[in-house]
Amino acid sequence: MTELVDRLYCGERLSDSELAALIAADDKETADLLRSRADSMRQRYYGKKVFLRGLIEISSCCKNNCLYCGIRCGNSEAERYRLSKEDILSCCQQGYELGFRTFVLQGGEDPYFTDDVMCGIISEIRRLYPDCAITLSLGERSRESYQRMKNAGADRYLLRHEAASERLYRSLHPSEMSLSNRKNCLFTLRELGYQVGAGFMVGAPGQTVSDLIADLRFLEELRPHMIGIGPFVPHHCTPFANERGGTLELTLRLLGLLRLMFPNVLLPATTALGTISPTGREQGLKTGCNVVMPNLSPVRVRKKYDLYDNKICTGEEAAECRGCLQRRIESAGYFVSAERGDCIEK
Ligand code: 5AD
Ligand code: FES
Repeated sequence: MTELVDRLYCGERLSDSELAALIAADDKETADLLRSRADSMRQRYYGKKVFLRGLIEISSCCKNNCLYCGIRCGNSEAERYRLSKEDILSCCQQGYELGFRTFVLQGGEDPYFTDDVMCGIISEIRRLYPDCAITLSLGERSRESYQRMKNAGADRYLLRHEAASERLYRSLHPSEMSLSNRKNCLFTLRELGYQVGAGFMVGAPGQTVSDLIADLRFLEELRPHMIGIGPFVPHHCTPFANERGGTLELTLRLLGLLRLMFPNVLLPATTALGTISPTGREQGLKTGCNVVMPNLSPVRVRKKYDLYDNKICTGEEAAECRGCLQRRIESAGYFVSAERGDCIEK
């Protein structure tokens, strides 16, 4: 197995069966080597820098009914909120003062946030913070909508593909949603000049090793600037309440593989990874991750953006969360970069 890690490290393309062997390798020797090779690859491209993204969760209202997600429209227990433009701008102001140079506006697919509403918010952030990147994560929209928001000043868009295998995608989503539309959205975003983030959950119910290979192959085709992955974590009010969650070990293995396959990609150590293990994000950083996304949402809504059970960082003020993450980053041997943190060219 160690030979496969080294071949990846040297830039070789592995076959499906070789990737499958690495994904399934649960021995310590492979894990240790993957970690150290992924870390030297990240340092070759990004040094010890970690980029911060201030996450503003603008709405917990969602018209979709994805089976895994706590804010699915079918969950009548979910508490719904949406932030006003003033709320969002005050999060940005706080974030700017705390040193953030990227704001991520993320929310469910909420029909309230029409193109006009979004463009009003985006252009105001653009005017007030010309040196910051504006990232959107608002799900599937039309080409025209993506274009208008780009023109208003958005730079980046996060849209996890969730599962590149048709069978798995279908089993995680209601029949109104389709993998082909999801993929089309991602290719459209790329074409329009957004820096694009895709990604998937690790250990989703029914996910096999070949499904994960399909994810890696799809990412090779899309060549996104950022790849967001985290363990699936069950939410008690969803059809997957009693399913098993994804493991730390498998998530770290995939993070290491991603860093070696996509050396210059932006790779976040996600909140879900920090949720399943107290040192999850630190271990992610040591296995190739170079981005973290502290929460900038107003504390009063934090618990309502309830994608999965036991989500961390729901009680802390933005400054506390920022400080906590900085300590964690430094304890893992890295430092917080003050830059916008764009993806570097290969
Ligand atoms: N466990 C882990 N991640 C989840 N997401 C949604 N629900 C869950 C869950 N139960 C992820 C999805 C989505 C992102 C915002 O959060 O991948 O794209
Ligand atoms: Fe948010 Fe620690 S990172 S409280």
